[in-house]
Amino acid sequence: MSEQPAAGPLRILLLNGPNLGTLGRRQPEIYGTDTLAQIVDQARAHAESRGATLDHLQSNHEGALIDRLERLDYDAVVINPGALAHTSYALHDALVGCGRPAVEVHLSDISAREPWRRVSVTAPATRHQVSGRGWRGYLEAIDHLLDQRGWTSRTR
Ligand code: DQA
Repeated sequence: MSEQPAAGPLRILLLNGPNLGTLGRRQPEIYGTDTLAQIVDQARAHAESRGATLDHLQSNHEGALIDRLERLDYDAVVINPGALAHTSYALHDALVGCGRPAVEVHLSDISAREPWRRVSVTAPATRHQVSGRGWRGYLEAIDHLLDQRGWTSRTR
């Protein structure tokens, strides 16, 4: 079967994992004061300004994130797996299995935190990781996907 997506805007799926629904009040010194809703609004506006669409799911449940990935109603993925980045081979496999390009985002710089946080087991399933850029990291992830050769020039 062809890997060419159908005509129309590029459909980005934004996934946020456990504990990201409490952004704004969760350790603001680390994660900032913006709520997830504010960040998603920014991300959606940015995607739309570049001619893409953005669908979002936050879940505290690994299986819900995997179920969403299995729907395959999107062309590319931006994912902040939260702590699942450090533990979830199942999420890694779902990202590989979906066959869509993905970029991993972390608000904080995971390379400068606790040793267990420095390893992401999901990142190898993605094309790129943006870490430590706060909410702007989501916009950079969208840009990375759209700037990939073959995406922006594609008639979508
Ligand atoms: C995080 C980093 C993870 O280590 C942590 O468990 C999170 C948030 C980040 O965005 O910096 O929940 O993914």
